[in-house]
Amino acid sequence: MPTLVHPSLDVAPSAATVSVMRNAPTLLSYGLFTLSLMVMGCDEQGIDAERFSAIVELEGEAAAGESLYASDCAGCHGADGRGGSAPSIAGEETDESIEASLEGPDDMPKFDHWTDQELADVAQFVFEL
Ligand code: HEC
Repeated sequence: MPTLVHPSLDVAPSAATVSVMRNAPTLLSYGLFTLSLMVMGCDEQGIDAERFSAIVELEGEAAAGESLYASDCAGCHGADGRGGSAPSIAGEETDESIEASLEGPDDMPKFDHWTDQELADVAQFVFEL
């Protein structure tokens, strides 16, 4: 009896392919689960995005930030902001200072116990250095 389909086209999918196809929904849900864990993990360690945006919106007053800077930032970043044990931050964009103050990268402590206005004021002072 002649075959209707050319033999080369009549290839059954390999057992491995079939197994991957059968398990696709499970594999996909594992993937989504892992992804959601990663996203939640980032949220926990990262900064409060809502608070960050609210502070960025504030108008910082450099004059008000000056004494806060002198007492809490200058020790590491230098009185003129041009670096000490920590990198130079003079002229840094305000959102960078606000982010660093909330996050406390590397050896820098967090300043998230400061008020939103204080964080905005220091950030403005750093920007004008
Ligand atoms: C104990 C030392 C220390 C103090 C105090 C400190 N910082 Fe920092 N800061 C660091 C270090 C170290 C880094 C670099 C972190 C890194 O490399 O990820 C840094 C990074 C930064 C950055 C990011 C620089 C960049 O280019 O990414 C900014 C902005 C900043 N600090 C602002 C401040 C402000 C504002 C204050 C005061 C409210 C402050 N820091 C207090 C140690 C300090």
